[in-house]
Amino acid sequence: MFFRVVSPRRPSRLLAAAASLTTPLLPEDFVSLVDPLWSTTALRGRVVEVRPETARATTLRIRPGRGWTGHRAGQYVRIGVDVNGVRHWRTYSLSGPESPTDGCLTVTVQAQPDGVVSGHLAHSTPVGTIVQLEPADGDFVLPSAVSGPLLMITAGSGITPVMAMLRTLAALGPLPDLVLLHSAPTAAEVIFNDELRALAEQHPSARLALRHTTTEGRLDLAELDTLCPDWREREAFVCGPTGLLDAAARHWASQPDRLHLERFTPPPRSAGGSGGAVSYGSADPVEVDGATSLLEAGEAAGVLLPSGCRMGICFGCVLPLREGQVRDLRTGEVHGEPGDLVQTCISGASGAARLDTPTT
Ligand SMILES: Cc1cc2nc3c(=O)[nH]c(=O)nc-3n(C[C@H](O)[C@H](O)[C@H](O)COP(=O)(O)OP(=O)(O)OC[C@H]3O[C@@H](n4cnc5c(N)ncnc54)[C@H](O)[C@@H]3O)c2cc1C
Ligand code: FES
Repeated sequence: MFFRVVSPRRPSRLLAAAASLTTPLLPEDFVSLVDPLWSTTALRGRVVEVRPETARATTLRIRPGRGWTGHRAGQYVRIGVDVNGVRHWRTYSLSGPESPTDGCLTVTVQAQPDGVVSGHLAHSTPVGTIVQLEPADGDFVLPSAVSGPLLMITAGSGITPVMAMLRTLAALGPLPDLVLLHSAPTAAEVIFNDELRALAEQHPSARLALRHTTTEGRLDLAELDTLCPDWREREAFVCGPTGLLDAAARHWASQPDRLHLERFTPPPRSAGGSGGAVSYGSADPVEVDGATSLLEAGEAAGVLLPSGCRMGICFGCVLPLREGQVRDLRTGEVHGEPGDLVQTCISGASGAARLDTPTT
């Protein structure tokens, strides 16, 4: 059966009539078979460009389908991708500007050693691939009107949300007074190297300091007094490895309101959980030690579980608790009542427990 595609903006008596013919399926269900971006129930995107940035990092330009409402510079998107027949969800900062002229979103993925999804996205994703998307989210964003000077400290793939900020600001006019301190192991591993240098050349108000850690060593934040003496007066945005973020939190301890952090990897876990036997749906119980998350333990046992950021931000991993309690791996707190929704990525076992799974 064929339907003429009508504009989604036009109220459509045609669609209503078609719906009565195709019940229980909606006409959109048929249309989305032809063009997956048309689905009204699932937000998807099509990869329209694959641009290598470094040997490990690749930018994917993705045309989003119906339902994408844009992003603020610095926000992230959850992307669902099938690897070896299994759907995985991961979180990536949007690296493109707000209001892109082509309507596409971009993410820049750096392959992690032994990573399930990042290597696949960076090196094995052809143009035309359909990915699952969720609306942009996150509060690592510029103030709606930038009034004061900025300081950005990034390392490795942590440049991505800051690149979105720089691109957004540059599209508005001359960049404001900003200092960017970016680290990568070598010059060849600096993502957006040419664009960053060009921005610094074109905008005298922007100062870029690139550091190649293999030869110069890692940035010690005590060096800020020399590299950016007025750092205390600047709104600071920091994104990079856990060590850098933890050091920044300590450095800004006396004025935390001036500091914005974006973590790509989870903070360290608290030690000393008891572990326990955890049942996922109707499957046999899995013995989970005190340091492993319920998400990791379930996946290792072959249970198909929902996930996203894998660090307690997005709530993409929640499952209903049916019996027992769980332990927050970040704080050590034991909690939970039957019926509570549990974030499996940051929860460990604390005695026997049972969780419902999506198929239960
Ligand atoms: C808010 C947010 C924004 C993010 N934005 C980006 C981005 O713009 N670009 C990007 O490349 N990644 C980004 N990430 C990280 C991304 O979500 C994945 O964690 C990363 O791609 C690894 O996924 P994987 O499936 O390959 O690794 P997994 O299979 O999940 O893990 C494999 C191994 O790699 C380690 N690992 C996972 N992630 C990292 C990491 N970032 N650094 C070092 N070791 C790691 C794990 O501890 C594990 O040992 C972001 C994460 C968050 C929470
Ligand atoms: S996967 Fe994001 S909160 Fe658990």
